[in-house]
Amino acid sequence: MTKTEGERNYDVLIVGAGQAGAQLASRLREKGFEGSILIIGDEAVPPYERPPLSKSYFMGEHDAEHMLIRPASFWSETGVDMMLGVAVEQLEPERRRVRLAGGDFVEYNWCVLATGARVRKLSCPGSDAPNIFYLRSLADVDRIRETLAPGIRIAVIGAGYIGLEVAAAARKAGHPVTVIETQDRVLSRVTSSVVSNFYERLHRSHGITFQLGEMVEAIEDGDGCTVLRLSSGLGVEADIILVGIGVVAEAELAARAGLACDDGIVVNDCFRTGDDRIFAIGDCARHSNIFAGASWRLESVQNAVDSANLVADVILGERRTYDDLPWFWSDQYDVKLQTAGLWHLADDIVVRGNPEQAPFSVTYLKNGQLVAVDSINNPRDFMGARKLIVAGASPEPSQLADPAVPLKSLL
Ligand code: APR
Repeated sequence: MTKTEGERNYDVLIVGAGQAGAQLASRLREKGFEGSILIIGDEAVPPYERPPLSKSYFMGEHDAEHMLIRPASFWSETGVDMMLGVAVEQLEPERRRVRLAGGDFVEYNWCVLATGARVRKLSCPGSDAPNIFYLRSLADVDRIRETLAPGIRIAVIGAGYIGLEVAAAARKAGHPVTVIETQDRVLSRVTSSVVSNFYERLHRSHGITFQLGEMVEAIEDGDGCTVLRLSSGLGVEADIILVGIGVVAEAELAARAGLACDDGIVVNDCFRTGDDRIFAIGDCARHSNIFAGASWRLESVQNAVDSANLVADVILGERRTYDDLPWFWSDQYDVKLQTAGLWHLADDIVVRGNPEQAPFSVTYLKNGQLVAVDSINNPRDFMGARKLIVAGASPEPSQLADPAVPLKSLL
C-alpha cells in the first residue's frame, strides 16, 4: 500500500486518552513491548483521573496536574506518542487505518478503542440555557468553578454518584443545594433501598433539599434566576444547574465502521471486536461478564484498568479471558461507599450493622451465594467480601448479619 502524505504507521493505535487508553499504553511498556504506540485523544490535556472532578477538584482542593494518571514526561520517556486535542473521524478496518479530523491518516497493526462515554443531555425546553453544566471533563468543571460565587443556589439534576458527590461538594462550600431525581430514591441504579435511604438521610442532615420522583419538564427564566419546572408543577429556583443524569457509550466510530454495537461496542471475552485487529476497552465496551452472568457494560475505573491490562497481555501474545470482579466507590462528605460485585442479581439482602449509622455493610446473595457488597465506611468488610465473592462462597446469613464475625473468617 502506498502511503499518502501525512500518513503514519503505529504498531498499537489507541483511540481515547482516558483511564483505559493510558493504562493500556503503560501496561504494554511495563511488560516490555517495544513496538510503536500512539494515543489519540480529543481533549487537550494528557490522560487524567476523572473521579476527583465531582469531588476534590470541584472543591478546588488541588489542581489539574495532581490528577494526571502519569506525569506528562512519562509518555515521552517511555516512547508513547500522544496526539491531544485531535479527534478521530473515521475508522477504516479493511485498510487498518483511521482518518483524523484534519484529514491525515494513521495506520495501525492493532487498534484499541478506548473512547469512553459522553454525558446524557437534558432534552426539556430550556435545556440549552448557559447556566446548565455537565461534569465529565476538566474543562467542564473549570467552567463551573468560574461561576461559583459565594452563596449561589445550585440545582443538581440526577441523584447518581455524580449528582450526589457534587451536591456534597457544593454543600460543603456553603451553597444552598436542591437535588432533583426522577426515581423515588437516590442511587437507584447502583444500590439497594437500604443504602439509598442512608444516603438520603446523610444529605438531608447536611442541608440538601430533595425533590424525588420528579421530572424536570422545563427550565425557565425567573426573576433574576432560573426556575426548574417539575412534573408536579413545583418550581425550583436556582442560579446554576449541574446535571448528572448518566452517560452514553461513545460507540459511533465503531458503529460507522461496521462493528457490532449494542449500548456499547460489542467485544468477546478478551475485549476483541468482530475485527481481529480491533479491541474496545473501558466504558465504551460491552463484554460478557462472569459476575453479571450476561453481556454487560461497566462504567468504572476498575473496568478501565482491568480491561486495558487484559488487552495489553493479549497483544503480547498471552491467552487470557476477563474474570475481574467489578468494584466501584463514591466519596460523599466523610463517608466512603465501596461496592463489589453486581447487586441487581440478588434475591436476598443481609445488613451487617446498623444501617442508620456508618460504618455498616449490606451484603447481597443469590441462591445463597454472596454476589455483591456495599460497605459504608467499612473497608475491612469490603476487602473480606471481595474475597468471598471471588471464591463463590455461600456464607450463613446469620453470620453475615453479625458484624462481630469477620467476613474473611467465612471463607
Ligand atoms: N431528571 C432527573 N433525574 C434523572 C433524569 C432526569 N431527566 N434522567 C436520569 N436521572 C437520574 C437517574 O434516575 C439516576 O439516578 O440520574 C441518575 C444518574 O445516575 P447514574 O446513571 O449513576 O449516572 P451519573 O451519576 O451521571 O454517573 C455517570 O460517572 O461516576 C461515574 O460511575 C459513574 O459512569 C457513571 C458516570
